[in-house]
Amino acid sequence: MVVFPLFFMLTITACNNIETTWTSAANPNTEANLTTETSQEPFELTQETKQPVQEATYLRGINLGNALESPPAEDWGVTIQETYFQTIREAGFNAVRIPVRFSDYTSPGPEYHIHEDFFKVVDNAVQWGLGNDLIVILDLHHFDAFKQDPQGEQEKFLAIWDQISERYQDMPPEMYFELLSEPSTNITSAFWNNALRDAITIIRETNPTRKILVNGIDYANVNALATLELPDDDNLIATFHYYEPFEFTHQGASWVSNSSNWIGTTWDGTNKEMAEIRESLDMAVEWSLLHETRVIIGEFGVNNTADPASRQAWFRSLTKEAQARGIGWFVWQFCSDFGIYDCDLSVWDEDILNTLQGLD
Ligand code: GLC
Repeated sequence: MVVFPLFFMLTITACNNIETTWTSAANPNTEANLTTETSQEPFELTQETKQPVQEATYLRGINLGNALESPPAEDWGVTIQETYFQTIREAGFNAVRIPVRFSDYTSPGPEYHIHEDFFKVVDNAVQWGLGNDLIVILDLHHFDAFKQDPQGEQEKFLAIWDQISERYQDMPPEMYFELLSEPSTNITSAFWNNALRDAITIIRETNPTRKILVNGIDYANVNALATLELPDDDNLIATFHYYEPFEFTHQGASWVSNSSNWIGTTWDGTNKEMAEIRESLDMAVEWSLLHETRVIIGEFGVNNTADPASRQAWFRSLTKEAQARGIGWFVWQFCSDFGIYDCDLSVWDEDILNTLQGLD
């Protein structure tokens, strides 16, 4: 077995057959506990080559969904607790993404002041994550009004980022910002490319080097990377969401009409199914190389109504293929419907966890 430091291995192109394993004690800021094996000789790219997916920290994260992403009058069944971060860290993840519905917790315009009590809840979650050695992505999630009326809500979008930037400017670099989850509906690529630039300009006034994640349009579809135009900034990371085949991952999802008809859809890792995954990930790597910008998968997951063996096979294939390309990933999600942890019983889905750890 040949063990290379991760920073070296991540300069390798997508084609190599790399196995990556990780240990539960891994420090997110070093590659020391991550060992990497390859069955092929490295390759054409060298450290001198500007390989954008190269990064000291390979992100293996999980989304703390259904907690701070619900509207004020609704409870989506997850209340963030400090112990969750410890549990996540101990299971070997090195990052969490926290989806937050800031847009429903502001005063009216033109100030759009984010409610202080809500900000305090967010502060706690961020601190708990950082305190447990996790990289924390603060993600602006479910800004549905903006997606419906991009022009009309743009001022609010920027006002929110102005306040978040100001508040967290002194946080350590392990806190990342994510501009907007899944731009969609009426947000066109032309509009989004301008809006994201304006938001980044605002953030950069107070956070000159903080990492900022950006999705493409069409619900962060991998194909939408093609229309994403980012400003010249070394601390941007592009992300996409992967839920293909949708009828498999979203079978029985309460928010997707007719999805109960899909219950029973299996995923077997056939050549065709694997080719779909590889094509999408190759496309992401190509974009990454062309734009000299790192790309990660910000969300990927399967509703827990799916057959467990299919679900596990899908997770295994996706993480293996992503890791072989140096593409970090964030499972959707910790607990509830797509969850891989049962927050009532305090137990992981051990099979999926083993798979994510590369142990099966
Ligand atoms: C997106 C949605 C979230 C949903 C997930 C899976 O993140 O915002 O509400 O649970 O995708 O469909």
